[in-house]
Parts: sequence; C-alpha cells; structure tokens
Amino acid sequence: MSKTAKTSKKKKTNAKKPSAPTAMLKKQHREVKAIFGKLEKGKGDPTALLKELADNLAAHMKIEQDIYYPAIAKVDEDLIMESFEEHSLAELGLKRLLATDRKDEAFESRVTAVKELIEHHVEEEEEDLFPKVDRKVDAEVLADLGARMEALFAKTKAAGFEATVPKGYAKTSADVSRA
Ligand SMILES: [Fe+2]
Ligand SMILES: [Fe+2]
Repeated sequence: MSKTAKTSKKKKTNAKKPSAPTAMLKKQHREVKAIFGKLEKGKGDPTALLKELADNLAAHMKIEQDIYYPAIAKVDEDLIMESFEEHSLAELGLKRLLATDRKDEAFESRVTAVKELIEHHVEEEEEDLFPKVDRKVDAEVLADLGARMEALFAKTKAAGFEATVPKGYAKTSADVSRA
C-alpha cells in the first residue's frame, strides 16, 4: 500500500513545470547542441560558428559556476565538484579547438571530442542534477536564481569567450569561480 502511494506521489512531483534555471539551462544546452551539429555537418562559416559556440559556452558555464552551482551545491556536493572539473576540461578542449586551423586534419576530431565531453556533462545535469534541484530547492529561491542567471548570461555572452576565461592553459574559469 505505502509503496503505491509513494510511487504516485513521485509521478506527480515529476510532472511539475521545470524551474526557471532548469528551463533556461536546458534551452542553452539545446542551442550549443545545434551549433555542434552545424560544425560537424560543415554548414555555415566555421570561424563564426566557433565564436558563437565559445561565447555561448563561456556564458553558460559562468552562470552555472558563479550563481547556480554555489547556490544549490548542498543538493549533491560530489556531483557539483565533478561538474566544475568537467567545465574545466571542456574549456581547455575548446581553447585547443579554437587554436586549431580548420584545414588541420585534427579539426573534426577536436570538434567531436569536445562535443562528446559536453554531451556527457549535459546528460548528468539534465538527468540527475536538475531534477534533484527542482525537487529539493524552494521555488522562490529558484525563481530568484533564474533572474540573476539570465542577466549574467546576457552580459557575459556580450563580453565574449576571450574576455571571460583566463588566458593560457594553467587555470580555467571554473578554478577562478571556485577560488
Ligand atoms: Fe555545467
Ligand atoms: Fe549546463
């Protein structure tokens, strides 16, 4: 009896509308996925697509690192720590890709490697982290986070990748956010 009651309650919770941060972050994930798709299919100007990809990702990672992750860290501290590391690797891979001539035979492989790294990270966020956060964090807190994240995303995206991430390979923006 109690098991049935628990299951139906869970279903009801899952059917809830996603919070503002979940909706926004998922939408940004889809945008990044679309850019990767164009790059892989050779559609459009690769230089412009890479800039769009880098600016989007720098802004997306910044709002997660500076606002979202710290605010919701208690929901799953290990997963958040892992997320900071995955952001670091994605950023380093992206820098390597940005420094690669598109005529270089490694260009396509580097696009795919960064894409796969990001896909893995996105899957963990969407399947594991975001649902946990939406279940455990207060709706008002999430609404406030969403508003702050939206403003910082616009500002950071306008500033661009180069202005947002540290120079060189020794330190990533995730290291700066955690310091
Ligand atoms: Fe992330
Ligand atoms: Fe994300």
